[in-house]
Amino acid sequence: MNLILLGPPGAGKGTQAKRLQDRYGIAQISTGDMLRAEVAAGSPVGREAKAVMESGALVSDDIIIRMLGARIDRPDCAKGFILDGFPRTVPQAEALDRLLAEKRLKLDAVIELQVDDAALVERVAGRFTCKSCGAGYHDRFQPTRVPGVCDACGGREFVRRADDNRETVAARLDAYHRQTAPILPHYQAQGRFFSVDGMAEIDEVTRQIESVLDRLG
Ligand code: AP5
Repeated sequence: MNLILLGPPGAGKGTQAKRLQDRYGIAQISTGDMLRAEVAAGSPVGREAKAVMESGALVSDDIIIRMLGARIDRPDCAKGFILDGFPRTVPQAEALDRLLAEKRLKLDAVIELQVDDAALVERVAGRFTCKSCGAGYHDRFQPTRVPGVCDACGGREFVRRADDNRETVAARLDAYHRQTAPILPHYQAQGRFFSVDGMAEIDEVTRQIESVLDRLG
């Protein structure tokens, strides 16, 4: 099963993609995580992407499309994948169409998480991640069960993203509305496009997505 999760920064794409990965045994492909790994490694791509990401703008289509093409060929995508944070521009959506056609793959569903802009800043500003295993949390909406201890691995060190501050979130939202929202009609026209209420609680959003997927057959 091949899916796209669409939505603005903080909509819950990463949170839901991890759950779908566990339930359906398909790979989460987060272009944001891939770029952050390049930045951490200090690679040429990472050096080019770092300042762009910290400003809240989008990294160049060429870099992203090349990265994605190589990622889909990895063995963990054999049963399918969830694209989280890609595509984000019309050229990326068109490149994905070409890539899937070349590989004789198809999209089973494109799922949009609808969230009001006003809720997103609080979501992003409260987000933190376990440094050891990458499990995601939120100060208010998804705290660890034991304060300061990761539920998943028992780790005690957590990190916050450099671009998770109020100013950068405003720039990321602006990029979403100007460059990413225009791809929605592209997928609406192709069919298999579904919107779910991303304002609901995390478990409820998962139920809505699973209900869409279970009806696909
Ligand atoms: P990326 O890493 O993709 O970030 P993003 O799209 O801004 O999305 P986020 O990761 O911030 O949010 P999310 O929707 O995954 O929300 P999450 O589940 O964590 O991109 C970062 C940067 O990399 C970009 O700005 C760009 O520079 C570059 N980039 C990446 N891909 C690119 C591409 N294709 N092209 C060009 N540039 C690219 O949830 C957020 C928080 O809210 C969490 O704490 C969570 O616990 C909480 N939460 C989740 N769901 C709910 C809920 N239903 N109710 C309450 N709280 C919730």
